[in-house]
Amino acid sequence: MSSRQVWIADFGSQYTQLITRKTRELGYSSEIMTVERVKELLLSGKIPSALILSGGPQSIFEDKTDYTFLFKNEALPILGICYGMQLIGHHFGGSVVKGFIGEYGDATISMIDSFSIKNCPKKINVWMSHSDHVEQLPLGFKKIMISGNGIFAGVISESAPVMGLQFHPEVEHTNHGKDILNYFFTCIAGMKKDWEDKTIREEAKAEIKKVGESKVLCAFSGGVDSLVAATIAHEVIGKNLHCFFVDNGLLRPQDYEHIEILQKETPLNIVVIDAKEIFYKNLEGVSDPEKKRKIIGKSFIDVFEAKVNEYSKKHNISFDYLLQGTLYPDVIESISPHKKDGKSVTIKSHHNVGGLPERMKLKLLEPLRFLFKDEVRLLGEELGLPHSWVYRHPFPGPGIGVRVLGELGLESITAVQLSDQILLEELNSSNLYEAVWQAFTVYLPIKTVGVKGDSRAYESVICVRVVNSTDGMTANWSSLPTDFLFRVSSRITNEVKGITRVVYDITSKPPGTIEWE
Ligand code: XMP
Repeated sequence: MSSRQVWIADFGSQYTQLITRKTRELGYSSEIMTVERVKELLLSGKIPSALILSGGPQSIFEDKTDYTFLFKNEALPILGICYGMQLIGHHFGGSVVKGFIGEYGDATISMIDSFSIKNCPKKINVWMSHSDHVEQLPLGFKKIMISGNGIFAGVISESAPVMGLQFHPEVEHTNHGKDILNYFFTCIAGMKKDWEDKTIREEAKAEIKKVGESKVLCAFSGGVDSLVAATIAHEVIGKNLHCFFVDNGLLRPQDYEHIEILQKETPLNIVVIDAKEIFYKNLEGVSDPEKKRKIIGKSFIDVFEAKVNEYSKKHNISFDYLLQGTLYPDVIESISPHKKDGKSVTIKSHHNVGGLPERMKLKLLEPLRFLFKDEVRLLGEELGLPHSWVYRHPFPGPGIGVRVLGELGLESITAVQLSDQILLEELNSSNLYEAVWQAFTVYLPIKTVGVKGDSRAYESVICVRVVNSTDGMTANWSSLPTDFLFRVSSRITNEVKGITRVVYDITSKPPGTIEWE
């Protein structure tokens, strides 16, 4: 049974987790659930203070599921977002039509004259991502917002606590999204706040305490997530925590340096497993991005399992728990049953969750699993970790493996390592490191013509990717000073062997993803 007062029924939108995020920021506890789980709970008589129906990639014209169970309790406040609004429109007898043209990205909506929301102007920029829309309002509903294309952007019922929004109030790009959500929670659902930051920290510590005297194993990357998870765990269980760092050979110079510093300056017991050759061998000849991700994930599991077994025998330790710095976005990603139903689309298979526990018979310990990145950073600082450790940029589990496009080779891996180091040095010396969410270089396996000295060069390309984001879910490419880009480009072409050309990626997410593979 959920102890959270807002349930979010996940219809598979890429943004569902942001709804929790915003709900929590507004002071209300919330939980994302599969639609099946919501059904189970509602049919067993449980009701939340409010139910949010997320967006989703499907169309009501294809999804023939009977969703009447969502609407049985007429007193239950419901907010439908995007696909959720179309479900509301359809269920209450309005008409939904297939759009010939969709509305994707930034759009402007206006509130009708007689409607207003506290702190919110009449005209706002919002994030849209739909083609179907409600064309005819159900009986008893009224429009409250309209898009620039004349489409219903917001509707409410005049008799029930039900509201629909065609745009995404949970996405950063929607101005005043939080004010709009707050309108639903206070004016429609009449809810009281029940959530503050410290709630989650207390929960994290309580989670660790439950292991008692058991031995805990940690898959440690040195990134902020596993570092914060290990630091809290160490505070609670001390030497019963053993951290293992797998060197997959797909790391940057800064990662090796960081691990050495952590080994020297923290009380954590960090065991480094050198598995470079195994990863390189397994990846030989593979160029498909998904295959590479899967191989890196599986190699990690195999290496980890073998080395931990060796260590356990040698030190006569038996591990009961696996500590992971899993964050809420990963949890949502991995539990969504819509993937299995084919309702949601897999964009990339992230390799850090799943697989391990079943084979190793370990119970999972994920003290950060309800947290978002910035909350983890705050927690890290509270735990006394140095600022620079806590504010390191995210680095994906498959590392350089997804930053060399196509087949990996020692020369291309080295090119990314060196160019990344140059980018890092320049960001630091220009005080730009913390101004951006992530910055890295990508090796493009294409050759272009250039001139080096007096000779013709026919060499590869390095792409510099720098983005601003608050959660990695959406991102804008960073507009960096020209002289900075000039220095980076000039140093890379001069200092990195085999590179004659540097390009800067000016794609936001969506439609691009942050990583190139
Ligand atoms: P994308 O490329 O999906 O990335 O826009 C969003 C954020 O996730 C990181 N990322 C990963 N992190 N394991 C991770 O731990 C992975 O497999 C993985 N793939 C992408 C990416 O660096 C960005 O911060």
